Amino acid sequence: MSKKPIQKQEVDTTGHEWDGISEFNNPLPKWWLYTFYVCIIWGIGYSVAYPAWPLINGNTAGMLGDSQRGNVMAEIQRFDDMNKPIEEKLAAVELTDIASDPELANYTQNAGAAVFRTWCAQCHGAGAGGQQKLGYPNLLDQDWLWGGSIEDIHTTVSHGIRNATDPDDEARYSQMPAFGKDELLEPEQIDQVVQFVRKLSGQEADAALSGEGEVVFADNCASCHAEDGTGDRAQGAPNLTDAIWLYGGDVATLTETVTNARFGEMPNWNTRLSEAEIRAVSAYVHGLGGGE
Ligand code: HEC
Ligand code: HEC
Repeated sequence: MSKKPIQKQEVDTTGHEWDGISEFNNPLPKWWLYTFYVCIIWGIGYSVAYPAWPLINGNTAGMLGDSQRGNVMAEIQRFDDMNKPIEEKLAAVELTDIASDPELANYTQNAGAAVFRTWCAQCHGAGAGGQQKLGYPNLLDQDWLWGGSIEDIHTTVSHGIRNATDPDDEARYSQMPAFGKDELLEPEQIDQVVQFVRKLSGQEADAALSGEGEVVFADNCASCHAEDGTGDRAQGAPNLTDAIWLYGGDVATLTETVTNARFGEMPNWNTRLSEAEIRAVSAYVHGLGGGE
């Protein structure tokens, strides 16, 4: 067995030798070694100071008490504290004065939009355009079920509409009878009144049926929807003479509405949002274009 030339290098060996293979003594460079020791010390220090080791429940907290969640909470608190004066002002002012106060008007546009995106958009749509056919009204237009003044909107949002799951004594409430299901009208009478509603809303209608339907309407519908079909906000009864529909103006949808009624529900927000948030979103909705 010939000796390997590498053994001739001028490096000390550790003196260990196995089968003619000896181990060089090549220590790590000093700078590397000390950096390594510093890292170990830093690592120990870090895991004592900051949250580090996983435990069965959670993790070691660290002596500095630092936590990501805590930082976020503190940041939120900082914003809450900053907004506190204006929120107190907003909660105390007359509703009708919000729009004319530049500071409050500006605040409610931003804070109200944020509340809307979080709590209202899933039903009324991100742009507040509502969802036709599903009974979620468009909040951009001039057509209001319950009223479009800032006070009306504030009442609607605070107390909700027909909210059976979280009853609020002051909720908006009314109930259109289910004329077909409860046999209040014969099927022919429903066909007639549906044609009359078509005529009221300026759509194509059967003349003979709608003539009969006018009488059915006067006897059964006018008490809520008014003689001329323009509706009644005190009862949330929609105007049937415009082309704006909650559920739809085609014959099938009208027949369904008259047969089974609808009972659209909106939650009350006074148990979920602060007065300032309710006012902010009410002012925001009022400012969308349809506000009165
Ligand atoms: C779960 C769905 C839902 C959510 C969430 C919801 N709404 Fe509604 N909202 C409705 C329905 C349904 C109606 C119509 C009820 C009816 O037929 O009278 C309505 C009606 C309204 C009205 C009355 C419109 C009119 O023409 O008079 C206003 C104002 C309103 N909502 C604002 C809001 C605001 C502001 C929020 C968020 C804080 C919100 N809504 C969240 C379902 C919802
Ligand atoms: C007790 C009051 C009341 C009476 C009586 C009543 N309605 Fe209604 N109607 C309402 C309310 C409130 C709504 C709103 C929808 C809901 O209940 O969520 C409505 C909704 C409607 C709609 C849906 C409109 C849309 O935009 O989609 C039609 C159509 C309608 N009514 C037709 C009639 C006809 C026809 C009669 C008579 C046969 C009648 N209503 C009688 C209260 C009434």
